[in-house]
Amino acid sequence: MAVEVLSTADGRAKAALSRANAAAWFAARRGEAPEIPVGTASPPDFPARPERPDLLNPRDVPRRRPGSPAGRIALLHAVAHIELNAVDLHWDIVARFGHVPMPMGFYDDWVKAADEESKHFGLVSDCLEAMGSHYGALPAHAGMWRAAADTADDLPGRLAVVPMVLEARGLDVTPGMIAIFEKAGAEQAVAALKVIYAEEVAHVAYGSKWFNFLCGRTDTDPKDAFHSLVRRYFHGVLKPPFNEEKRADAGLPPDFYWPLT
Ligand SMILES: [Fe+2]
Ligand SMILES: [Fe+2]
Repeated sequence: MAVEVLSTADGRAKAALSRANAAAWFAARRGEAPEIPVGTASPPDFPARPERPDLLNPRDVPRRRPGSPAGRIALLHAVAHIELNAVDLHWDIVARFGHVPMPMGFYDDWVKAADEESKHFGLVSDCLEAMGSHYGALPAHAGMWRAAADTADDLPGRLAVVPMVLEARGLDVTPGMIAIFEKAGAEQAVAALKVIYAEEVAHVAYGSKWFNFLCGRTDTDPKDAFHSLVRRYFHGVLKPPFNEEKRADAGLPPDFYWPLT
């Protein structure tokens, strides 16, 4: 089911399949359908993506002021791109690490996260379309898959960099984005971003939960392991200001991230 999503190129089709597969997984987990065994799979090195948007080096993506309608469309376009990438990231962790024995709750968490990212992609795509644009109308950042490629053989590394660094960063920046769209009276975008903001806390929490679980399995100090894995796999430093309250809700204490600034 994960490889099926990863192999689907069109954004709306990928999101719809992701939601359908998540619903099938949870129906089976509730006992309403035959059990779905966790097997091993060969996910693609890079997930299928639509022909548009063009993927550019981050420094070549034009910057626009959020004070203009075009700027707000560009901002939402960047969010849609992040959400679609997140759909693939969560299914990839399910498919990529099937050989690592994990409790069923691990799969439940990432399937739920993937389902929510699919909903987020749909909400933001709806906003873009209501504003006369669409996902694919603007160029987007290339290289978002780098964190996944770099950690393809390292489950603790994947958890450290993807949910605990990249998704935690979303908690830091989303309140500022909500303020931009509130100021513009863009109610649909405000509503979409509020759903995203509320649901992303759990994705970071799944990351720290399973990271701590794996550290416990090898009797490793989670804070030290987190520092060394982020230094190995994350290119750059962490940037304050941090949303300390939401990070705490997600089980991410300050002594994990402050030493990496
Ligand atoms: Fe999301
Ligand atoms: Fe997320």
